[in-house]
Amino acid sequence: MADMSDLLNLSEIEAVARAGLNPVYADYIAGGARDEITVRANESAFERLRLLPRMLRGGGKRELDVTVLGSRASMPILVSPTAFHKLVHPEGELATARAVAAADTIMIVAMAATVAVGEIAAAARAATGGHGALWFQLYIQPDLELTEALVRRATDAGCEALVVTVDSPALGASERNRRNGFTDLPAGLACENLRDLRDGEPGHVRQIVMSPEISWEHIDWLRRITSLPILLKGLLHPEDVRSAVRHGVDGLVLSNHGGRQLDTVPSTIELLPEVVAAVAGRIPIVLDGGVRRGTDVVKALALGAAAVGIGRPVLWGLAAGGEAGARRVLELLREEYDHTLTLCGATSARDLTPDLVRGVPQ
Ligand code: FNR
Repeated sequence: MADMSDLLNLSEIEAVARAGLNPVYADYIAGGARDEITVRANESAFERLRLLPRMLRGGGKRELDVTVLGSRASMPILVSPTAFHKLVHPEGELATARAVAAADTIMIVAMAATVAVGEIAAAARAATGGHGALWFQLYIQPDLELTEALVRRATDAGCEALVVTVDSPALGASERNRRNGFTDLPAGLACENLRDLRDGEPGHVRQIVMSPEISWEHIDWLRRITSLPILLKGLLHPEDVRSAVRHGVDGLVLSNHGGRQLDTVPSTIELLPEVVAAVAGRIPIVLDGGVRRGTDVVKALALGAAAVGIGRPVLWGLAAGGEAGARRVLELLREEYDHTLTLCGATSARDLTPDLVRGVPQ
């Protein structure tokens, strides 16, 4: 295994991960919908933006930590929900959870995790220096009784918020997966959060249903059955964002699912100013999609995000070096974020204002 400290950035970690991974799984991680136009746009839109730093501000020690909806994180870099961590490492989500807890940030556990959320929470608590919070990502199922059982499972595990993914009325169309014949998890792996959800079905694992029937009524229903903060992940249209505020949603994850759902939607960083305007400061926005550098984190925060999420980089880290690899990804981004703050003349996220970013489309 490569020595993680030799790897200097996320792209080197990705290269090591790809060299060791089954190419079918590497394609599953890297890929997206159809022509992958949005996958590429997420990263290239960050590259097009330019930072305009301030000088001579006499800043001292930086404060990197943030609090989002009551959950504290030691840096504004969270782990977005990604399915199937055991595909790339035998310890799967347990290794990820330990790495995220050691970094003292927030892991959004995927409903499609290959380890049950209760076990993930136990691993996070037991991790060396572990403090990280867990949030739970949910696809609302047409079977509400089942959905309620899942919410209960996540709540009992100690999850501090629900992230409801709403951009998946159908599964995205990955032609890479189709070409590779990757349709099912290999034998021995399953979506463990969906095991034993109902009495009288011992050992039974439910299938995740992506349904076009899900509507705002389901969000209202969820609001009634839980007191956890609810974030919606995947709203893109400013009208939908305004509706979310009206429906009492507590936060947003501005995400295009890493370009894995509808191809050709805008990059998230490009949409951020419009979404920030629609929200008008009422609820926090976490942005994910294409965040690969500390400069990307600073650009997103300067344009109004409360924090960012990373998806693929954590999986590459996990594939390259298990817990140590995922940890290296988080620590590299932390270092880069801190360094970028310093070079911008900022001491915390509060100093990051839109005037520091040039090239934002009007
Ligand atoms: C995802 N993503 C995702 N999102 C979600 O809400 N539920 C899920 O189960 C998954 N699964 C998943 C698997 C894989 C392999 C990837 C790459 C992504 C989307 C994820 O939460 C996030 O929005 C994107 O990954 C962010 O973009 P980057 O950081 O990968 O560019």
